[in-house]
Amino acid sequence: MESSKLQQVIAHKGIASRRKAEELIRAGKVSVNGKTAHIGQRVILGEDIISVNGEKIDKPENLRYFLVYKPVGYVSTTSDELGRKTVLKLLPTKVTERLYPVGRLDKDSEGLMLLSNDGELANKLTHPSFGIQKTYEATVKGKVSYKALQHLRRGVRISEGYVSPRSAKLLEKDPDQSIIQISLSEGKKHQVRRMVARIGYDVIKLVRTALGPFKLEHLAGKPLKEITKEEILAISKLDSSDLTT
Ligand code: URA
Repeated sequence: MESSKLQQVIAHKGIASRRKAEELIRAGKVSVNGKTAHIGQRVILGEDIISVNGEKIDKPENLRYFLVYKPVGYVSTTSDELGRKTVLKLLPTKVTERLYPVGRLDKDSEGLMLLSNDGELANKLTHPSFGIQKTYEATVKGKVSYKALQHLRRGVRISEGYVSPRSAKLLEKDPDQSIIQISLSEGKKHQVRRMVARIGYDVIKLVRTALGPFKLEHLAGKPLKEITKEEILAISKLDSSDLTT
């Protein structure tokens, strides 16, 4: 069987990014067959026993990727101490792999999410340094003024500091409600709602329409769609080194 770089194996398991995995190896937190591992070490999955922080990591599972439409009311975590429905409930019961949501979406928000067990892809799509763009459509009460929209485009101050969208435009403007399309390359808690509140409007509905290269249209109106690694590569500008191999 072929050997792989140790840090790559750790990253593929979704335990840490490759860089973080290297740090763990350097810090002596990783062992192979009971001996402290070293940078550059190669391992054979299924044969070598690898432990990170004293915990064994086993053979990678089958990698799976699901685009799902998260309805309002579901929490985007794998478990919830309050017993609320998690996004994992949206998967068919025959999926036995341990998937997790790639990125968050508030319980009161809806729209596109990706569920996968590909740690490498998850790191890429969620790490702020990659600046993956997310697009939302926020329905707000009232008619949004041009001045307010310009304010949003320039950026607003929220508790963490000054934040500006990659883009913001008005899709609809009626006397009683408007729809603002807003793209962000960061993801602070309730960021869209808080930014819109700063320009004086209340979000009454928030839908995520794009997550990096993935668009709501890929679901074609269905609640969920399994996509293959090949489709991910075709949809996105990612190359195979961004995914677990
Ligand atoms: N911004 C929000 O306010 N909520 C989300 O779920 C995502 C972005």
